[in-house]
Amino acid sequence: MKLINVDSLSGGEVLAQDIVCEDGTMLLKRSTRLRQAFKDKLLERNIYKVFVTDNAVDPEKPNPIISKETRNLICEELKKQFILVKDKIAVDPEVMNEIASILLDQIPESQAAYDIKDIHVNDMCTYEHSISVAVLSALVSRKLNLPPDLVHQVTIGALLHDVGKIIIPNDILNKPSKLSNPEYEIIKTHTTLGYQMIKEHTGLNPISKLIVLCHHEREDGSGYPLNKSDDLHIAAKVVAACDILDALITDRPYRAAMPLNQALLILRGEKIARDVRKSIEDLLEFHPIDSIVLLNTGDIATVESNHSNNLRCPKVRTIYNLKDNQYVSKKIDLSKSTDICITKKLDLNETLNKIIKSQPLVF
Ligand SMILES: [Fe+2]
Ligand SMILES: [Fe+2]
Repeated sequence: MKLINVDSLSGGEVLAQDIVCEDGTMLLKRSTRLRQAFKDKLLERNIYKVFVTDNAVDPEKPNPIISKETRNLICEELKKQFILVKDKIAVDPEVMNEIASILLDQIPESQAAYDIKDIHVNDMCTYEHSISVAVLSALVSRKLNLPPDLVHQVTIGALLHDVGKIIIPNDILNKPSKLSNPEYEIIKTHTTLGYQMIKEHTGLNPISKLIVLCHHEREDGSGYPLNKSDDLHIAAKVVAACDILDALITDRPYRAAMPLNQALLILRGEKIARDVRKSIEDLLEFHPIDSIVLLNTGDIATVESNHSNNLRCPKVRTIYNLKDNQYVSKKIDLSKSTDICITKKLDLNETLNKIIKSQPLVF
């Protein structure tokens, strides 16, 4: 049995359990063979995921969005482009467009949620980091409904965002201990150095150049190099957030990679755009402690703790069952349950409304 997004149903899958609506009515019975036409029916009823039978898929194994072969190919091409920049030769816009198109073609448009292990490769190499940031930025841009042209430019900008590091000395970039203040100041110059090196490249779009310059800016002006707090372009905001997250979950010479749930909590403390952060959390199905969720059992529950590498299955405590119209306090570790899952995030108003509506009217 596996849990899949309704969005990605291709038809023919067999339901592994009954689908019961929030009001307790049976929508589809176990063993039903799903048809494309059921998709809308499910989505209309706020059912975003279903369990289907499948013995062949191992959920623990990565299922990379970008195949290893494509990733290696892009890595090699990107390396060549960085060297061109270092040699004061313009990047090849056709190659950059081609790389971005290959990436975007491999990223499914319809899937609502992703596992980080399918996006990110834990590798300190600048090129691997750039590819992971580009994939995540493309996903976030699509989640934010940015126009396709802009998503393409964001992807190119994300691929090139750290191009300035090509002229930062390796002994500073790979220093195995904490950087001194002067060394940190040198690292910070990679934004302006990168921008200066590519700003005259006529084939490169202005948004991608802006990303190279502004991917370390923050919403409150605490970033660099411009300390810009207003009018920061959405493209730079997206790459800034994805860059922080990818850096946190990657091993560094001076520290080990952080578990994803911790990294996402740190991201919450960063001065980044709220809508961008929310898109990242939705994509990765992060339900922070105390958030309220609806389970496929009809239970409204609060999240009590997260598993570091299985964000979609936190430990929860139920509050109220909409099917039985009663308050129930029960602890469930969703990672240990094969048939209970989160179907929806709820906010406080939505939660109260659902509970109030489920109560019989007394006159
Ligand atoms: Fe950077
Ligand atoms: Fe970076």
